Amino acid sequence: MDKVIIEGGSKLSGKVDISGFKNAALPIIVGTILANDKCKIDNLPMIGDVYNLVKIMEMLGAKVYLDESGYMDIDTSTIRDPILIDEITRKMRASYYLLGACLSRFGEVKVLYPGGCNIGVRPIDQHIKGFEALGAKVEVEHGVISCKANRLIGSKIYLDVVSVGATINIMMAATMAEGTTIIENAAKEPHIVDMANFINAMGGNIRGAGTDIIKVNGVNKLHGCNYSVIPDQIEAGTYMIAAAAAKGDVIINNVIPKHLEPISAKLIEMGVEVAEYGDSIRVNGNSNMKSVNVKTLPYPGFPTDLQQPMTALLSGVKGTSIVTETVFEGRYKYVDELKRMGVDITVDGRTAIIKGVDTLMGSKIRATDLRGGAALIIAGLMANGTTEIEEAYHIERGYENLISKLLNLGAKVKEE
Ligand code: EPU
Repeated sequence: MDKVIIEGGSKLSGKVDISGFKNAALPIIVGTILANDKCKIDNLPMIGDVYNLVKIMEMLGAKVYLDESGYMDIDTSTIRDPILIDEITRKMRASYYLLGACLSRFGEVKVLYPGGCNIGVRPIDQHIKGFEALGAKVEVEHGVISCKANRLIGSKIYLDVVSVGATINIMMAATMAEGTTIIENAAKEPHIVDMANFINAMGGNIRGAGTDIIKVNGVNKLHGCNYSVIPDQIEAGTYMIAAAAAKGDVIINNVIPKHLEPISAKLIEMGVEVAEYGDSIRVNGNSNMKSVNVKTLPYPGFPTDLQQPMTALLSGVKGTSIVTETVFEGRYKYVDELKRMGVDITVDGRTAIIKGVDTLMGSKIRATDLRGGAALIIAGLMANGTTEIEEAYHIERGYENLISKLLNLGAKVKEE
């Protein structure tokens, strides 16, 4: 998908089904390495990052069957060599999960430093601190990360920053370590809980996931399992914001409403109607939305991955809104693109001051990263006239069937 073209102004209505959670699916696919066995995974989103990860797993030696319905059979017992020096791992952040998984199963691993969206510095010092505390020797040389350990021994690890990636990587590395590992100041995101449940389904022993203290009791061996990935909190949040932006009436199915509370609460504060049902949520937008202030925070705070779509929405809402990005300092690159549409946003460091304008103008713009691209889609839905979003392949990395889902809701959108 090179380009997305949107004719703004259509009201969205109808139902949309949310796919499996990208940020849970990726560590789960890598986590099958721990099983040294066959796993069956379903509710996987069919997105660029999953296709790339399948290639990576195959290059390592895993046997993978991926069905377009989101079902995967994967056998990781055929992996012999935990070394992969290939540019493909730079295409995504989640390749760093090979570190924890291979270190745990093979006692060593070598991969290139991970890539991913350009949204800030993104160090992995907390991952490394965790591996070293478990007894691994870690070296980073010429862009290659090598970890090696004769034995991994349970330890107490206090994370200096709340990190999703470090929490998951340390959980994986500690799964088959001798004794107990305690991770303090752990991330609490829904996908941390999903990953812990997955490891436990393979015979692991992880307690406390979803709180800030996680206890991993090392086991000798894991085994294959069947597992279903949770729904995508961020995809669901994006459609909630899109519904509000397009003054629509949209039912978002296959969600866990609890995971969406930070988004629901903000939309309600803006004057949007949000109703929760068992596994769906209904969002009813209107023309009288109020400006609000938003601060991104680790879960259960407002997710950084929705800062960009939310900022786009607020750019067309009367009054002044202040958005503070506390997680990734470089997550405002898309604002320059939004400015071509006539928005009034001033970014100063981690803060964006948004003065809502009456009309956004359709323009030719460029997706800077995955969620920045989603923000431009939101802006395009609100704008007068045609918006052409170039470099739209960024968006495909994280949103399954975006165009057909939007078309079903009545958006005037096409891809080229
Ligand atoms: N950080 C460190 N040291 C570390 C690790 C993180 O200083 O060793 C800092 C980061 O620089 C950042 C903060 O800690 O300021 C949080 O980073 P975190 O490690 O939680 O993020 P991540 O694991 O790199 C994952 C998601 C991101 C999502 C963040 C936060 C994946 C593959 N990526 O990244 O998803 O924004 O958690 O929830 O799961 C996206 O989907 O668009 C995306 C960028």
